[in-house]
Amino acid sequence: MLNGKTVVLGVTGSIAAYKIANLASMLIKLHADVHVIMTQNATNFIHPTAFETLTNHKCLVDTFDRNFQFHVAHVNLAAQADVMLIAPASANVIGKLANGIADDMLTTTAMACRAPMLIAPAMNTNMYENPILQDNLKKLKAYGKEIIEPASGMLACRDIGKGKMPEPEVLLQYILRTIAMDKDMAGRRVLVTAGPTQEALDPVRYITNHSTGKMGYAIAENAMLRGAEVTLISGPCAMEPPMFTRVIPVVSAEDMYQAVVSEYENADIVVMTAAVADYRPATVSTEKIKKKDDDLSIPLMRTKDILGTIGTGKRPDQFFCGFSMETQNMIENSRAKIVKKNLDMIVANNVKVEGAGFAGDTNVITIITPEAEKELPIMTKKEAAGIIFDEILARM
Ligand code: CTP
Repeated sequence: MLNGKTVVLGVTGSIAAYKIANLASMLIKLHADVHVIMTQNATNFIHPTAFETLTNHKCLVDTFDRNFQFHVAHVNLAAQADVMLIAPASANVIGKLANGIADDMLTTTAMACRAPMLIAPAMNTNMYENPILQDNLKKLKAYGKEIIEPASGMLACRDIGKGKMPEPEVLLQYILRTIAMDKDMAGRRVLVTAGPTQEALDPVRYITNHSTGKMGYAIAENAMLRGAEVTLISGPCAMEPPMFTRVIPVVSAEDMYQAVVSEYENADIVVMTAAVADYRPATVSTEKIKKKDDDLSIPLMRTKDILGTIGTGKRPDQFFCGFSMETQNMIENSRAKIVKKNLDMIVANNVKVEGAGFAGDTNVITIITPEAEKELPIMTKKEAAGIIFDEILARM
């Protein structure tokens, strides 16, 4: 995912420094070229050898180190960077960066760096709330640097409050959002629905289906990484929704209907992956369930066709894409849905095909438009999400 990308990590003197080894390792696994620069103080918390072993590059600490890989190391490294993350960023280094002080390897590289810069402050709550520090952060923001909000929790000093460096997984998401993909969807507003819906039988039980939300979350993440503004309407899923998306949690088909109806007009692209439960109990018969009747015979009724409803109000500048999961006559049934629901595209899969459908990380899809169809081989849901948006963008 980060092939050919150079990430420069600046590590300063804070206990959270040790967690950056984990981040470096995650970046390497995504095939990034990672360089680590430490302040002298940071070396009290983690030894440069740890980073050298992980990154296969010399970990730079001293500006005047003569054992260098680069000609004028700080300038060269700054020029190579696709992104620079300073994490943990101490109050001292933030003060230097905000005021143009460049007196060590890290701050000189930051000064020379034109790539996007992310800064994750990590310190005691009182230091973090100090107006001087806050002013420095404001100043850095005004210079276009992105400040990653510290988390709250128990700090190294045993105080409880704001100032913790976010976990490496979170820092990784910031890096990915910045450099993983070209921003060919910048300015587009995308509405995605994902997951199953739950239809209550009584206060304890519900009807649902096997959807995990993986395909929808992959769709939302792909659009977000390409710079789109993403709203994700999600039924109950076990996974964490992708960061940097606006998530509207829903439970029933009716909830999803209400959410979609109030959001779709603001979207340029609507992708409905949700496996909406097609039926819900017409009446909730708690009594029968309590008595444990063998035959509940609860009458069911169709849920509202969400995509079909908004399809009739689709504007010419909007693009609507549905999903269809079929067990037979996949192409014909999906084509019929394109017409019935007034869609621009349907992504169809045959649940009987190995590697397709719910739960797994892969899918086997056919992209169907009124004029064409494209059958794709088995691939990850994340890869499929990328191709779906390539096809959508080519038609907008
Ligand atoms: N869909 C919807 N509202 C529903 C059911 C489905 O908006 N109540 C959407 C799905 O999210 C999907 C598309 O319509 O994008 C097709 O869903 P599918 O279940 O395959 O189609 P149905 O019209 O429900 O037809 P059937 O289940 O009978 O095949």
